[in-house]
Amino acid sequence: MDNYQVKPYSNIAKIGLDKLDETKCSLNVNSDLPDGIIIRSTKLSEDDLNDGLKAISRAGAGVNNIPVDICTNKGIVVFNTPGANANAVKELVLAGLMLSSRNVYESIDFVNGLSHLKQMKDLEPFLEENKKSFKGTELAGSTLGVVGLGAIGSKVASMGVALDMNVVGYDPALSVEAAWKLPSQVVPAESMKDLFAVSDFVSIHIPAIDSTQGIINEELFKKANNLSLLNFARHEVINTKDVLKYLRQDNLKNFITDFPTPELIMRANENKDVILLPHIGASTSQAEENCAVMAVNQLVDFLETGNIKNSVNFPDVQLSRSTINRIAVTNKNVPAMIGQIATSLGELDLNIADMTNVSRGDIAYNLIDIENEVKESAIKELQKIENILNVRLIK
Ligand code: MLT
Repeated sequence: MDNYQVKPYSNIAKIGLDKLDETKCSLNVNSDLPDGIIIRSTKLSEDDLNDGLKAISRAGAGVNNIPVDICTNKGIVVFNTPGANANAVKELVLAGLMLSSRNVYESIDFVNGLSHLKQMKDLEPFLEENKKSFKGTELAGSTLGVVGLGAIGSKVASMGVALDMNVVGYDPALSVEAAWKLPSQVVPAESMKDLFAVSDFVSIHIPAIDSTQGIINEELFKKANNLSLLNFARHEVINTKDVLKYLRQDNLKNFITDFPTPELIMRANENKDVILLPHIGASTSQAEENCAVMAVNQLVDFLETGNIKNSVNFPDVQLSRSTINRIAVTNKNVPAMIGQIATSLGELDLNIADMTNVSRGDIAYNLIDIENEVKESAIKELQKIENILNVRLIK
């Protein structure tokens, strides 16, 4: 029986790691050659990708702490856990909306500064006299723009509808699954500029990838009018210099973000129009447990069966097992690979019972169930075929 080594990085909820007890995988915090890694926000570099590493499972949505392109080139599968912490993030967005619309932060600060008023007879009239400076606006009836309508964005959009807000959404890559989850009241915007032009609040829910670096910038802020901008995605998607510039004009009213930078901390110390949180969007016990369980289950399923679900760099692949000898092959997505693999299996006297081949971008992944016994020497032969990234025998 195979025994796969799984190495946890970062704090992963125990309920998830305990799941490994019921599997062929064992937890090894000190492993130098793990088969799988479970990770939260720790940054991984190419040096952490040991020989024999088969998969990395991220307990969370963002994978910008993992060198995904390098993993893909090495045939390492990277998983994330979409939706597992969406409710936690959505609830913190609600806090962000309240903080930005009702001057909550300024109000608390004001009251905390009144310790010199020792008597109720002095305190009470002072509060009543000054409360007018903290008058806010109600969320109901105002417009919420949601950029990115995946697992988190669609929950935020639904929450906006439930709060009687007008909700406008933008997502050029909206999946059918996500579209079904959106209430009919969510109005699609033609472009991000249009969304910024009509919104009182904009909440960002896009991943930090090459194409989204600094995408929330001056071009959009120019269209905005007294807008509250909320970022619970990643700091990389925001052009911070532009945020600071347009906060000084009337376009941006305030900026609430879970991703502080040194420049933003400086601004927050001078002015309450920047509210900073220490990346706590997914920090609830429920979200941490959901993510850990999902990350472990996906990793174990892949190590033990070769099946793939919720990978960010490999296609979804599910093949019910028809024999005990299964081979998983990852190859570059170039012509004539299936033919070469099948020919090589034939030459090795191995008979295919069932197989599937699915590609995504530059790679293709094959699961092949073999009727007769497969020896390690056969795996070595398959590995010699040009453009094959890795071959694994799963018994
Ligand atoms: C996420 O990407 O889902 C969060 O950043 C998770 C976390 O806080 O670890």
